[in-house]
Parts: sequence; structure tokens; C-alpha cells
Amino acid sequence: MQQFDVVVVGAGAAGLYGAGIAGQRGLRVLLLDHAERLAEKIRISGGGRCNFTNRDAGPANFLSENPHFCRSALARHRPADFIALLERDRIGWHEKHRGQLFCDESSEDIIRLLVRECESGGVVRRQPCGVQAVRAGRRGFELDTDAGPVATPQLVVATGGLSIPKIGASDWGLRLARQFGHRVVEPRPALVPLTFDAAEWAPYVPLAGVSLEVRAQAGEPGRKRRSEGEFLEDLLFTHRGLSGPAILQISSFWRPGEPITLDLAPGIDLGQALRSAKSGSRRQLVNELGQHLPARLADAWCAPLGAAAHRPMADLPDRTLLELANSLQRWRLTPSGSEGWRKAEVMAGGVDTRELSSQTMESQRQPGLHFIGEVVDVTGWLGGYNFQWAWSSAYACAQALRPAAAFA
Ligand code: FDA
Repeated sequence: MQQFDVVVVGAGAAGLYGAGIAGQRGLRVLLLDHAERLAEKIRISGGGRCNFTNRDAGPANFLSENPHFCRSALARHRPADFIALLERDRIGWHEKHRGQLFCDESSEDIIRLLVRECESGGVVRRQPCGVQAVRAGRRGFELDTDAGPVATPQLVVATGGLSIPKIGASDWGLRLARQFGHRVVEPRPALVPLTFDAAEWAPYVPLAGVSLEVRAQAGEPGRKRRSEGEFLEDLLFTHRGLSGPAILQISSFWRPGEPITLDLAPGIDLGQALRSAKSGSRRQLVNELGQHLPARLADAWCAPLGAAAHRPMADLPDRTLLELANSLQRWRLTPSGSEGWRKAEVMAGGVDTRELSSQTMESQRQPGLHFIGEVVDVTGWLGGYNFQWAWSSAYACAQALRPAAAFA
């Protein structure tokens, strides 16, 4: 039986980073992954340029049933620490939007960096290599792997979330957590487009492709949310529903059966604007509305008004204008679902953090067992936060790992 100080299962963002750090601290590390290709989620992330962190990442940018859990790890390994690694390796990066940092060239740069870190830490990598069983005994863990049995006092689970199963996502980490008595916060697709009942959505299908900045909120307007999920971002109409950053953001807060509320003309009092524009105006309502919204959207919203939409503004009662403005600025609609794991960028939920150490990511139920990255119930907003959690949680864990001799 081969013996290691640490076995890390899952060679994605968190696993590669944590394994490299542990290796460089002098530990004998085995890193296993069952997928054919290495770090596929990093490769496809950020449209191929990997939004590898967010300069402003802090605990407020994460959802969890235990919102303070992420604080310690995020404080100990900050965006600047990861940026320093890119600078050291002369990997070009730039800020795109609201603190979101992307590679100049390609997300392959991040994968190569992480692989180099593993190599300089002497990490043994086996891929593709699955794990059939894990047993805990007095001397740690025994794993049955595709490459034979392995023993270790410390097992790090970095198997990520459930999204995009065709590139290697699995529930292995969640099943292992349950095997050792951990509670799992029900996983759900997050950062995902929302869909609507086909009949209900039919009037909006012609708007597919229209995009505009909106204020979006999961739930009723003004209502205090679990974590105040309200976002001013772009929205995109699709054939099946709504997408774009605004919708992906609120999808993480949305629960089935709940409404979402959209302000399609954020930053102005549209009712007031229409009333002011009305006096003596020969302009048609639909054209006036087109000053504030994309023309196709203005057309679609005015369609139910029939001929009134094409009458001079001055002939329309204030009530019509106010009702129209209200329907645009407090558009309340109830999604029938989401595009699911196939399209979700991340998994919300995961291993319940109330039984993990926020300092080391170690299980409080099973000594030596650790969970890092997306498999844990810590989910970032859209914008580089999820990778930052992968780096920070991996770092916190890797600092706490010890040589096998320390367990004798
Ligand atoms: P990750 O998914 O990276 O790695 C898990 C690894 O475990 C995989 O290699 C998998 O093969 C392996 N594994 C799973 N089950 C196993 C088993 N049974 N045995 C062995 N190995 C197993 N985030 C962000 O911050 N900025 C961005 O730009 C993007 N963009 C983006 C685009 C798309 C399309 C997606 C799907 C996701 C993103 N993300 C993102 C999210 C980000 O990719 C994600 O949060 C991190 O990769 C999570 O890192 P982990 O290491 O936890 O999991």
C-alpha cells in the first residue's frame, strides 16, 4: 500500500492549488482526478480567459447557511496574494468590470501556473484515476483507487460542485461527506438562466436577444432577502426565459415558486419622465418609451395598449402612463425553473460548514478529513468570487496539513 502525507481528490482549482502549497511545504502529496482532461472548469471559465478573482472579494459576496464561515480563509489569502503569483510568472491580466480580473491571453495560463506549483512541490498526480472506496481507521484513511490502494492520515476533498456533469462533475464529495456523518445543505444550480412556462413566456419570445441594464431582485421588491440579493447588471431575453449577469446573480438567491422583480428602467422615475414628456407632445408613446428602453422592448410593452401606443402622448391619460411605467419598473414574474446543472456555473449548497473548521477546513466529525472549494456550502456571486473561494479555502487547508509522522 502506498503511503502519502496527504491525498487530494479533485484536481480542479482548489485541489491543484492546495496540493501545490502542501507539496511546497514539504509534504508528500497525491492528487487524483477521475476526468480525462485536467481542470476543465478553469479552461472554460470566463469565456476562456478565466475571471480568476475579484479585486474586491469579501464575505458579503458569498452565500452560505453559515455566512461568517468564509471570513477567516478570505482574510488569510486575499485576491492580492493570488495576483502576486500571476505577476511573479509574468501572466498578463486586466480588470474588465467591477473588480473582475481576467487573464489577458487564456485560462490555460492559470492551469499551467497551478501545474508548475504542483511540480515544484513534488506532487504526484494521477489522472484519470477514480476512487472506489474510502475507509477510516485508527491510522487515517485507506483509499481504493484505480491505481491501487493508498493510505494517508489526511484526505482533502476538492471534487467541486454538480454543474456541467459532462466535464467531470460528480456528487462523490457530497456522498463522502454523508458517509462520515456530515450534513449536506441541499445542492441547487446557481448562477444559472431562469426559465418560464412556455405559454406564459410566448409573448416575450420575439424579444430573444434584447439586452439592457436592469435592477433585479429575487422575491418581492423592498422585501428583506436572505442576503439582500439585489443587482444592477445586464439582462438578456432568451427563447426560454431570462439570462445575463443580472439573472445569473439573482438565480443564486431564488427559490422555486418565488417571484423575481425587475426594474427595466433603473435610475429614473419612468412615470414622472413620461408625464413630463407628455405636455403638448405630438410624439407617440411608443417612441417616447424608446428613449428609455431598447426599441423592441418598447414595442412589445406597448403592444397591449393597441392604438393608444401610437396616439400623441398629450392625448393619453396620466393613469395609462403611470400603469405602463409601473409595469416596467416593478415587473414581477415567477420562473417555472432554471436551465439546471447543464448550464449552471456553480452549485449552491454543499457540505454544511457548521461542522468544519473555518481555520483549516477540517471536519469536526472525522479527524484528518478536509473539504475545500465548491463542494463546501460557500457560493460566490458572479465575477471571480468562486475562484477566490477555491484559492482561499485551499490555502487555509494546505497551511494546516502535517507530515504523516506527526500522527504516529
Ligand atoms: P472544480 O470543478 O474546479 O474541480 C473539481 C475537480 O474534481 C474536477 O477536476 C473533477 O473532475 C474532479 N472530480 C469530481 N468528482 C470526482 C471523483 N469522483 N473522483 C475524482 N475526481 C473528481 N468562477 C469564477 O470565479 N470565475 C469564472 O470566470 C468562472 N467561470 C465559470 C464558467 C463556467 C462555464 C463554469 C461551469 C464555472 C465557472 N466558474 C467561474 C466557477 C468555477 O469554475 C468553480 O467555482 C471552481 O472551478 C471550483 O473549484 P473546485 O476546485 O472546487 O472545483
